[in-house]
Amino acid sequence: MFDSFNRNINYLRISVTDRCNLRCSYCMPECGVPIMSHDKILTFEEIVDVVKYGAENGISKVRITGGEPLVRKGIVQLVGQIAAITEIKDIGMTTNGILLNWFAKDLAAAGLKRVNISLDTIDADRFYEITRLGNIEDVFNGIEAAKVAGLFPVKINCVVKKNSQEPDAVGVRAFCEQHGLQVRFIKEMNLETGQFSVVEGGDGGHCASCNRIRLTANGDLKPCLFTDLSYNVREMGVEKAYLAAIANKPSCGSINQMNQFSNIGG
Ligand code: 5AD
Ligand code: SF4
Repeated sequence: MFDSFNRNINYLRISVTDRCNLRCSYCMPECGVPIMSHDKILTFEEIVDVVKYGAENGISKVRITGGEPLVRKGIVQLVGQIAAITEIKDIGMTTNGILLNWFAKDLAAAGLKRVNISLDTIDADRFYEITRLGNIEDVFNGIEAAKVAGLFPVKINCVVKKNSQEPDAVGVRAFCEQHGLQVRFIKEMNLETGQFSVVEGGDGGHCASCNRIRLTANGDLKPCLFTDLSYNVREMGVEKAYLAAIANKPSCGSINQMNQFSNIGG
């Protein structure tokens, strides 16, 4: 699928839930965000329909995000259903890693290829402070499990305030070098004010070559992270929503006042 700026859209990012087992300060207020009611959340069948239509029209790469995707019940089965679509060559997941120790093996067996794990510090107290809930040991165990399961390359997402010279980031870089992990530094963004930047070590944020489209947990197809444009697959039907999202994909991001990171998945 080519958009009106001749960009080849082949990458679909799917947020499968807006719920999370952490409360990272840059992502959610401490008390959490109002969550979507269950009946608004797409069923697996509906998600798979969206992926299938995409696959028949040029999508070859899928990433599963959240919220935290591993808190969605049946996530392994969903991965299996997406992996069974032959045109989909690459399935990744972005996770906070807390539950990965339990799921890594089954996810790999179901067809997941690789994971990006969020880790903003390697200090246990700082981790608890940033995530307001998390035990860093769970993430370390999750990282190890991902390696054992062969979810390569295991990438680490490290959100920084300003740059990768900050103490937490320096620690994360050293940890990644020691453990054979690829690290990406993501400058803290603000959807509402449109502050976004390229990801150091990643490929997001380059509007001119952006190949992505996003699906939120409640079925909004969004042509860009930094836009209020959205086309709901339940309301419009899958094909119409795709066509509108592709046709209206902006040349560059601006602002998004209707989503939070917790329901669009970064
Ligand atoms: N700025 C940048 N990235 C964010 N994420 C969540 N909130 C933000 C934000 N404000 C990203 C992080 C995290 C992933 C789940 O979402 O990369 O690892
Ligand atoms: Fe959860 Fe990820 Fe948001 Fe942290 S950044 S609260 S782990 S969704």
